[in-house]
Amino acid sequence: MTQSVPHGGKLVQLFNPELNIVDIHKEIELDQTALSDLELIGTGAYSPLTGFLTSKDYESVVSNIRLGDGTVWSLPITLPVTEEKAASLAEGDRVLLVHSGVPYGVLDIKEIYRPDQQHEAQEVYKTTDTNHPGVKKLLDRGSVYVGGPITLIRRIERREFSEFYFDPAETRAIFKEKGWERIVGFQTRNPVHRAHEYIQKTALEIVDGLLLNPLVGETKSDDIPADVRMESYQVLLKDYYPQDRVKLAVFPAAMRYAGPREAIFHALVRKNYGCTHFIVGRDHAGVGNYYGTYDAQKIFGQFTEEEIGITLLFFEHSFYCEKCESMASAKTCPHDQEHHVILSGTKVREMLRAGEVPPSTFSRKEVIEVLIRGLRIKETVQ
Ligand code: ADX
Repeated sequence: MTQSVPHGGKLVQLFNPELNIVDIHKEIELDQTALSDLELIGTGAYSPLTGFLTSKDYESVVSNIRLGDGTVWSLPITLPVTEEKAASLAEGDRVLLVHSGVPYGVLDIKEIYRPDQQHEAQEVYKTTDTNHPGVKKLLDRGSVYVGGPITLIRRIERREFSEFYFDPAETRAIFKEKGWERIVGFQTRNPVHRAHEYIQKTALEIVDGLLLNPLVGETKSDDIPADVRMESYQVLLKDYYPQDRVKLAVFPAAMRYAGPREAIFHALVRKNYGCTHFIVGRDHAGVGNYYGTYDAQKIFGQFTEEEIGITLLFFEHSFYCEKCESMASAKTCPHDQEHHVILSGTKVREMLRAGEVPPSTFSRKEVIEVLIRGLRIKETVQ
């Protein structure tokens, strides 16, 4: 049986809990994004990356969507620090990567450099507007980057939905065990509404299995929290999906909202998890009106199929059509827009927070019940 080849040729594995760290006295504190990046580099989800980018790779990724050696890579995975912190570090240092006092990794500093972050924002996010959550975060993080290879020495403890965390080597083994050869990956930072279900199931008609792979790393504050979403996915899968054709596993990366650039990243990473196909629908990983509806599909036109190495399944904007009495898209439905049930993500979130129930043609009632209850509990607690 053939399995998809990891990006760059082999799965990177950099976890070594036995590494001796007693003689390392310098440390860098990681934010949530850097902590998740560290772990994802270490487990091979970001293959072929073996560390945080040095300037040659960084500049090449920012300007050409490729690493220095030409391999396609779309998001600069960097380790930013403040000027003050940078002053205490030197190239050649071995440092601990810590979060809340706990060491999770070791970095061998190869280079300390000052990036042009305005240029990075413009190239990666297509804007320097600080209202864009990805740009804001980029500029709020440190202005000096520290690059070099890492070792992951400790795994992040998962208290919530720990049974849904799998490393790329594990998802690959699971697919093999299930006998799935063609696996479609689905990225989401939202609940699975009817449109998502429609495109997933349309894809399932032509492949063996679906990896429902919701992103559970850092998201912007008005996105629906991961724990509430996780409950909603389980409720949906239980009653509406064939159990032997779908695997729910989380993707612990931070959301960047980089639209087209992030779509490439999402696809390459799912290839590393063992997927052979990846869904890109409308405004993938977008936010506000920064990207055109299909920009995240069009960007793949810049590369050959071999360079990407995972088959993209592009979907038109889907909706329920009251005349068709089914889910549809402009490709399959001849009726006017007035018959289409379309709600923006912002509108849905507002409705849910107000306890209002969106139409069942937009989202299944079991999903909505979980979301309204989950959001209500959160608001009472806060
Ligand atoms: S995100 O991670 O891409 O920001 P989101 O949940 O909004 O999350 O979308 C998940 C996937 O479904 C993306 O590929 C997106 O393009 C696609 N998608 C979302 N809504 C629709 C829709 N109504 N029609 C077609 N594709 C959609």
